[in-house]
Amino acid sequence: MTKISLPKHSRLLSSDFLFGVATSSFQIEGGAAQREPCIWDTFCAEPGRIKDGSDGLVACEHIKHWREDLQIIRDLGVDAYRFSIAWGRVINADGSVNRQGLQFYIDLVNALRADGIQAHVTLYHWDLPQYLEDQGGWLNRETAYRFAEYAEVIGQALGNKVASYATINEPFCSAYLSYEAGIHAPGHKNRREGRQAAHHLLLAHGLAMPVLRKHAPQAQHGIVLNFSPCHPASDSKADRQAAWQAHQYHNLWYLQPLLSASYPDLLQQLQEEDQPSVAAGDMEIISQPLDFLGVNYYTRTVFRAKNNWFSDVPPTIPPLTEMGWEIYPQGLTEILTDLNRSFTNLPPIYITENGAAFPDQVINNSVRDDARIVYYQQHLMAVHDCIEAGVTINGYFAWSLLDNFEWAEGYSKRFGIVYVDFDTQQRILKSSARALQAFWLQRKSQL
Ligand code: NOJ
Repeated sequence: MTKISLPKHSRLLSSDFLFGVATSSFQIEGGAAQREPCIWDTFCAEPGRIKDGSDGLVACEHIKHWREDLQIIRDLGVDAYRFSIAWGRVINADGSVNRQGLQFYIDLVNALRADGIQAHVTLYHWDLPQYLEDQGGWLNRETAYRFAEYAEVIGQALGNKVASYATINEPFCSAYLSYEAGIHAPGHKNRREGRQAAHHLLLAHGLAMPVLRKHAPQAQHGIVLNFSPCHPASDSKADRQAAWQAHQYHNLWYLQPLLSASYPDLLQQLQEEDQPSVAAGDMEIISQPLDFLGVNYYTRTVFRAKNNWFSDVPPTIPPLTEMGWEIYPQGLTEILTDLNRSFTNLPPIYITENGAAFPDQVINNSVRDDARIVYYQQHLMAVHDCIEAGVTINGYFAWSLLDNFEWAEGYSKRFGIVYVDFDTQQRILKSSARALQAFWLQRKSQL
């Protein structure tokens, strides 16, 4: 079996670095009858939206198998578990609290604590209740205020029992993929809508932060952003300009408001009707101090110039993952050292997601996914390099604990270190889980 190992002196091996595994509510929970429908239920019901025509009604049935899943987490030897809360499992359409739904998360957090595993909670991982989408979803400023009310309920219920609260996961996806590129729920295709949704998501984050701090003063509070270095397809001036535009549009659009209370200059290049409306005081609400920045990293992206704008060039350089994404570990070091140079107030980082989909196969009840082990080895080394280069990184979460519902790709893409048979709900630890487990247990034994 391929092994995972790091240099002896690596800070990743010290006791103040956290290792964990990550999931999200809609992707694993199932139990749809006990919660409000969300935008992804609606989207899945529209023909042609999801590659394999599947939905999240059952998924990994984590709602039923959570104790078994927790046992796996415990056995892996991790310090922490990152999961998200389904808004519509906690807040009903009439605004009342779903006590049973809330209790599920209270029980989960208590069980994690009993096992000495830190809970890292994300409040919004894309499953907006449909009742809010019916009122405009993230295009409606009011949704940001509803989010702060939901945060109040969660903060009150879980308080300091949770190690960290992330308000929003990847606002880029909830804005751009959902409202601008039409790939994610609710599937709109409109530039102005994308920009407005981005602003309201950031506003929701800003409104929720003080609420969460009030209820959980000992927890860490932050947000999770996805980053991908944007590279030019050629050395031409036009392509280099396109890559810089893409960097502003996809990466800085979310980070700069948080850290510098402003949008990138590229905003001025948008037609006036495509620019978001920003109310007085919004940027101050958005830009309050963060205890941590969650970073999700998967790959780099390449862009070329097209009509004074940027257009992405599909990856071709092998090896590609099953998603068609280039394996580019050095991109993680590149983007984080770059951001660390550009922002003097870059908060301490948790790598909140990193992982890859491969065409896993069960043979004799086992899954040999050596390519995934290599992926983790290379990316852990990239994290090590970042730290050596002066970036503060305090933890790393593998995406994902389980094979799960990969959004528009349905169940056709497997990101888990644990294989899930979606017919029987059997879980099988892949070789990657075994390799990480060996690494994590050895590290623990040497702390
Ligand atoms: C980031 C998202 O947060 C997660 O939900 C998704 O499964 C992974 N990327 C892989 O695409």
